[in-house]
Amino acid sequence: MSAKIITLSRHIIEEERKFPKATGKFTDLMNDIAFAAKLISYNTNKAGLMGILGETENVNVQGEVVKNLDVFAQETMVKALDHGGHTCVMASEEEEDIISIPDEYPLGKYAVLFDPLDGSSNIDANVSVGTIFSIYNRVSPEGRPGTKDDVLQPGIRQVCAGYVIYGSSTMLVYTTGNGVHGFTLDPSYGEFILSHPNIRIPKKGKIYSVNESNFDYWKQEVKNYIHYVKQIDEATDRPLNSRYIGSMVADVHRNLLYGGIFLYPASKTAPNGKLRLGYEANPMSFIVEQAGGRATNGTQRILEIQPKTIHQRVPLFLGSEEDVRLLEEFISGKRS
Ligand code: AHG
Ligand code: MN
Ligand code: MN
Repeated sequence: MSAKIITLSRHIIEEERKFPKATGKFTDLMNDIAFAAKLISYNTNKAGLMGILGETENVNVQGEVVKNLDVFAQETMVKALDHGGHTCVMASEEEEDIISIPDEYPLGKYAVLFDPLDGSSNIDANVSVGTIFSIYNRVSPEGRPGTKDDVLQPGIRQVCAGYVIYGSSTMLVYTTGNGVHGFTLDPSYGEFILSHPNIRIPKKGKIYSVNESNFDYWKQEVKNYIHYVKQIDEATDRPLNSRYIGSMVADVHRNLLYGGIFLYPASKTAPNGKLRLGYEANPMSFIVEQAGGRATNGTQRILEIQPKTIHQRVPLFLGSEEDVRLLEEFISGKRS
């Protein structure tokens, strides 16, 4: 094999070797996640066909019952992570409570949180969706089932975070606190190949991403900021461009590469915002920070928030450092 081709497995092994106490368990866990990502990717590509087949017999060509992609992604993530002996507990957008490891499987030292399918309202329109994951070392005693304490840790303690984007190609992007690395799925080999080593988000971007239909529900400070970014001013390179897909993974991925700010503010109708701290805000914030960007709820760094509940929501502003700092000046009242 050419020395220039670096697969995800190789990259993870080499990352893990940097830690003297590494056991290889982390590599195994990541390989399980990558396998789940390939299955979800394959089925996402077939989503349109599944609908057609579903209408006839509700059974697909392999004789399996056709499932909605949300359910499929959830089951795929759980099945990929429950048996390997690396995980002690999981939490997902799709389950009210923590997900325990079945009795027949060994328990591991990691807690994994995930949003199995992010942006799911976009599936039927063939628009990019994603999977988000976040990994912690357990804090509950080893050898026993994991507990809520394992999945309610502040984001700063993440040992790994990543997302998979099912877009014009499928990409897996991850960090272990040592930069952000992106891998593109080569469909002919079925391997994730390093395509975006050491991603750095531009210090200042030209894009703002927000659901502006909520404008009238926002606090005045956020309205002022959005009003500001739309004003014409050559010196500060305004107005910014508006880009909003409605799949956070896709919106943040684009801003990571091009530079920009993503916002999901609190509003009168959603006083804590919409996005969830554990499996949406924390992993994306870890990635954005590791790429040189910034992530806040407006007054506090996202990664320092102590979670209280699994599905806790949080206002979220993240992206290029200068853009997020400017937003913070509006929120603190330094600017108006
Ligand atoms: P999910 O599909 O996992 O429920 O997440 C959808 C989220 C996120 O992807 C996106 O940024 C946001 O919802 C869009 O919300 P609006 O439609 O309110 O803009
Ligand atoms: Mn989501
Ligand atoms: Mn989801």
